[in-house]
Amino acid sequence: MASEADSRALQRFYRWNAPIYDLTRWTILHFRRAAVEAMRLSPGMKVLDLGCGTGLSFRLITRRIGHEGVLVGVDLSADMLRRAARRQTRNIHLICAEAGDLHLKPTFDAVLMAYSLTMIPKWESAIRHASKHVREGGTIVILDFGRPEGRFSMFRRAFDRYLALNHVRTDRDLKGLLQQNVNRVEVLRPVSSYATLLRGTR
Ligand SMILES: C[S@@+](CC[C@H](N)C(=O)[O-])C[C@H]1O[C@@H](n2cnc3c(N)ncnc32)[C@H](O)[C@@H]1O
Repeated sequence: MASEADSRALQRFYRWNAPIYDLTRWTILHFRRAAVEAMRLSPGMKVLDLGCGTGLSFRLITRRIGHEGVLVGVDLSADMLRRAARRQTRNIHLICAEAGDLHLKPTFDAVLMAYSLTMIPKWESAIRHASKHVREGGTIVILDFGRPEGRFSMFRRAFDRYLALNHVRTDRDLKGLLQQNVNRVEVLRPVSSYATLLRGTR
């Protein structure tokens, strides 16, 4: 059960991580470009970036939706959003909110959740809300840590411990829950790889 304490712990974590986020996380957060491509964006589209962090995906998205498109970035951490504001252009709007409690109009063409769902305490509610925010026929793209098996399992155990220290939970069935909330799910990178990439179509 998600609690206020979980949310406060995350906010504290990002208070001191926000200043070093861009400098350090490029080493572990891969396949961002593939995730943005998976949204199948075109000029004028409206996109929601849930758990947008410092806005590392913003430029890739705005390049595709153009000036007439709209990008809404949502994050629980005010410290991360302050960094994201440095990447803000006129068609980017930032909202400080809990993804699991978000109520926006269901007008989005696409929703991106890049490396955020494994951190969000109310992750089930976040997927449910995301599916309500996207219009019929729109896409929800999830990029997150997978669960590689086999010869890298020793490395994996150490990495899992590192991720747990970073408030990341890799035991969540993201694909299963996405399947319950959209009409079709495509696995673009399997859960058994370093990072899983899922596209849901509503
Ligand atoms: C690992 S970062 C990923 C940031 C960004 N999507 C990226 O790809 O670089 C996870 C982000 O999710 C945000 N987050 C965690 N829990 C959240 C929640 N409950 N509601 C909204 N954002 C949340 C964190 O504050 C953090 O900025």
